[in-house]
This record gives sequence, C-alpha cells and structure tokens, in this order.
Amino acid sequence: MLIDVEVGMEGFVVRTTVSVIKADVGSIPGHHTVHPKQLELARSLMAEAVDDGVVASYHVTHVGDDIQLIMTHGRGENDRTIHELAWNIFQEITRRVSKPLKLYGAGQDLLADSFSGNIRGAGPGVAELEFEERKSEPILIFCADKTNPGAWNLPLYKIFADPFNTAGLVIDPSLHEGFCFRVLDLREDAFVDLTTPEELYDLLALIGTPSRYIVEGVRRRDGLPAAAASTSRLSLIAGRYVGKDDPVLIVRAQHGLPALGEVLEAFAFPHLVAGFMRGSHYGPLTPVSMKDAVVSRFDGPPRVVGLGFQIADRCLVGLRGTEPVDLFADAAFDRVRQQAFDVTDYMRRHGPVMPHLLGPEEMEYTTMPQVLSKLKNRFKPMHTPRIAMQG
Ligand code: F6R
Ligand code: MG
Ligand code: MG
Repeated sequence: MLIDVEVGMEGFVVRTTVSVIKADVGSIPGHHTVHPKQLELARSLMAEAVDDGVVASYHVTHVGDDIQLIMTHGRGENDRTIHELAWNIFQEITRRVSKPLKLYGAGQDLLADSFSGNIRGAGPGVAELEFEERKSEPILIFCADKTNPGAWNLPLYKIFADPFNTAGLVIDPSLHEGFCFRVLDLREDAFVDLTTPEELYDLLALIGTPSRYIVEGVRRRDGLPAAAASTSRLSLIAGRYVGKDDPVLIVRAQHGLPALGEVLEAFAFPHLVAGFMRGSHYGPLTPVSMKDAVVSRFDGPPRVVGLGFQIADRCLVGLRGTEPVDLFADAAFDRVRQQAFDVTDYMRRHGPVMPHLLGPEEMEYTTMPQVLSKLKNRFKPMHTPRIAMQG
C-alpha cells in the first residue's frame, strides 16, 4: 500500500492528506438510506484508484442518504485528480445504480454539468486536511445527515476552546497556548482567523449564528493542522432548496491535541441544528452508531456518526482493514440519545411553528416563498376600512 520509497522510513517526514468527499446521489426509500449497490460500486472504483496509485487507502461509508468517500493520499488539498476521482465516482453511481433503480433523488447533489477542476462549489461536500504524520496519528471523522455545516460550530468551539469540555486546554502545556479558528462568512464570501483564548468572545459573536458564519478549520497556535470541516451550502450554490449539505468533519486527536474523549465529549450535548424535515426545522444533533445511520422519524432526527482510524504511512488503519471504530456505539451515549429523542418530542409538538420551524431568512431557500407569494395580492393596507370577513 506504500506509494513512495521514503514513506515510513525512519527520519523521513510523511506528508499525508485526508480527503473526505460526500454527496447524496440517490436513496431508498425516499430520503431514508443508501442502496448497498451504490456502496459496492463506490468501493470497487476506489479499489481501482488504489491500484492506479491515485490514493493510498480508502473507506466508503454513509450516513442517512449521503455517501462519504474517505481517502488518504500524498497529493495535498484541492488536488484536481482526487476531486475528479470523487466526481466521477458519484457520476458513475448515479448512472449505473441510482438511475436504473430509480432511487430517490438520483444524482441530486451533482449540481455542475461537468467537472471543472475542483469539486468545491459543484455540489458535493469536501473536508480535507494535509499534515505531517506524527509518530502515531489518530484521526476521527464525523459525518452528519439532515443538517448543514454550521452544525459543527458548537462542537468545534467546545473541543478547541472550552476548558469545561477539554481539560487539556488547562492541564496540557501544548494545548494551553490555544487554537486559531478560520471562520467563513457565507453571505459576504469572506473569512477571518480568530485566536483563542484572547478572541473567544469575538469567535462566539460570529459562530453563534451558524446559518451565516461557519468554522472551516482549526489549527494549533504553532500552525499544526487540527481540524477541517466541509462548508458548502447547496442552497447558496443553486439559489434554491436542493437538499441538505449534511456536512463532514475531520479531527486529529491526542498528543498535543484534544484527546479522543475530549473530542467525543463535545457531542454529549445534542444541540439544536437546522436541517430537520425539508431543511426547514430545528432538531437535536443525535450521535448514533453506524447501525442507526439512517433517518426515519420526520426525516430525522438529525444524526451524526463518528469513525475512528489511525493513520500509518498514509494509509487508514481500522479494525479489519480500513473498517473504522464506531465511536458512538457505546452505552455512554445512550442517555444523550434519550435526551435527543425527548427534545425531538418537545420540538415536534410545535408543529409548523417557530422555533421548530427555521426563521424567515433561512426559509427563503425552501419552497415556502412559493406558498407565500400566492397570498401576496390578498393583503390590504392596515388603514383600509375593514369590511366583513369573506370566506
Ligand atoms: C432531504 C430531506 C427531506 C426532504 C423531504 C421532502 O434531504 O431532508 O426532509 O426535504 O422528504 O422531499 P421531496 O420534496 O423530495 O418529497
Ligand atoms: Mg436523498
Ligand atoms: Mg442527506
């Protein structure tokens, strides 16, 4: 599996890139889950890419109706070959499986007509992290369904800036200096870098509005890459509702970075995120094991799975081959799930009323404006003499 001579040899630095590229290219039944044939095809095409030396290793998985291609390689971030590989795999799944089986939403997230050099902005979500492999390299990958990239704001803040979550920020000298957060302003197409703990309040002032400001990545103060998130908003690309972004997140852990348990601790609170039913409702982000990586009740509730790997010489190491550790398959998260289900009951009782329903700004990108436009001409100025109500 090693792809160049110096890899893994004592004294040589291995530069590794982890790319996670995901898309919803069709599901069964409706938006519930993916079809095994889609995953089978993705795996066989990824295996060819390993044989061709394009990627060093891969793992294909899904959460709800989204397929994630997890790849390791030495080509760096935003590499054309890697992005094209992922684009072609999603195209092939659409052409050879989703369309013939008439799966729901076949090819849904492939918004561009063709590949034009970078998959960002073409529909699929991308998170990539390039780094020098440490002596031992634990990598955690989180994949969510029925939500959007702002869903990572609160967990990322907790992991890298909240000492009540991450004890290492207080105790461990290598975390004590703090972290740097890159925050995107999706409205203005701009970004800002903020360092914690000094700029903690500024950071919170932005990321408390996850519909507009989203954390794209985190580095340690000495520049060490620590986390990367997918940031695409399909609605902003297409200018209309086309499904959920269902983001992914890569986090490096341990030895000078937050411990595995500190990273997972951030998911012990099922916070409310946007994206439940029709991308129009708030619901709790529920940490689940791979066996529950589907959505059901009211097309949700929003879910997150956590996959744990080591990386050795650019290759993913799992329990059997690249099969990851299922991080939320633990009784310690049962009460979090129960709380999430209780919150789901409570939110559902609001029906189509805010704050279960998203606010008007976000509803702009749903089918709601079509409904409201029909009523437009029926409104009369408030000072009009009121006539008897007409049925
Ligand atoms: C899709 C999703 C769903 C759909 C809903 C209506 O990711 O989250 O909640 O928005 O099932 O879908 P259509 O309009 O395709 O029937
Ligand atoms: Mg779908
Ligand atoms: Mg989805």
